[in-house]
Amino acid sequence: MGRGRFITFEGGEGVGKSTQVRLLAEWLRERGCEVLTTREPGGSPGAEIIREALLSGRTKHLGPMAEAILFSGARIDHIDSVIRPALEAGKWVLCDRFTDSMMAYQGAAGEPGEPVLRALERVVVGETRPHLTVMLDLPPEKGLERAAARRQERHEETDRFEGEALAFHQQLRERFQAIAAHDTARCAVVDADAEVDEVARRIRQVVETRLGGVLPQAAQEEPAEGLAATDAQP
Ligand code: TYD
Repeated sequence: MGRGRFITFEGGEGVGKSTQVRLLAEWLRERGCEVLTTREPGGSPGAEIIREALLSGRTKHLGPMAEAILFSGARIDHIDSVIRPALEAGKWVLCDRFTDSMMAYQGAAGEPGEPVLRALERVVVGETRPHLTVMLDLPPEKGLERAAARRQERHEETDRFEGEALAFHQQLRERFQAIAAHDTARCAVVDADAEVDEVARRIRQVVETRLGGVLPQAAQEEPAEGLAATDAQP
């Protein structure tokens, strides 16, 4: 993957992923990194078509297995046309959601089972695995409240997954936590129950700790204030 680094952001509804992607991108750019920010589902013209169908709820009746395949189809186009070329060009790619969302959301729907989802993930992702996954953790009640407030502000409808019951969102949180516990080398759980700037500081701390060795020289000479040698703690 050249010198580029692939960082994904995961978590339930309203945990603040898109804001944190933007803030980390600014910080990395200040350090001289070339950064590409993107999101899933979508992120490429082909994948955006599938995104629209999925989030409108029009594909809900097809069931979680078909939805997992649709998310995967969108992901194939996104990886091939956007993520892999950027990594090969040495860029830092920050992606708002990736395969852990499929493992959590489609997994929480009950079927398809985990082995099937894992197989799908392996086939679709291949070598393009994230170097780091930031798991933003927040009680679902708070996340849903934030997501609802944001929608109201923007006069948007509740989307396909936000409208699921609270028990579903609680299960999502547990699934993300389990993924992180199972793959500690890749994942870092960051407590997102704090002010935006504080969460951003915690994420920068994780990036310094995990990927500091490949950050451009300036970043190592001037580490952000108060950085510890361990991952961000709540
Ligand atoms: P989006 O509007 O991007 O929401 P958010 O701000 O929460 O990221 O909607 C993406 C939705 O799609 C979100 O509810 C999670 C869901 N999703 C899946 O169910 N499976 C997947 O593989 C991905 C990438 C997303």
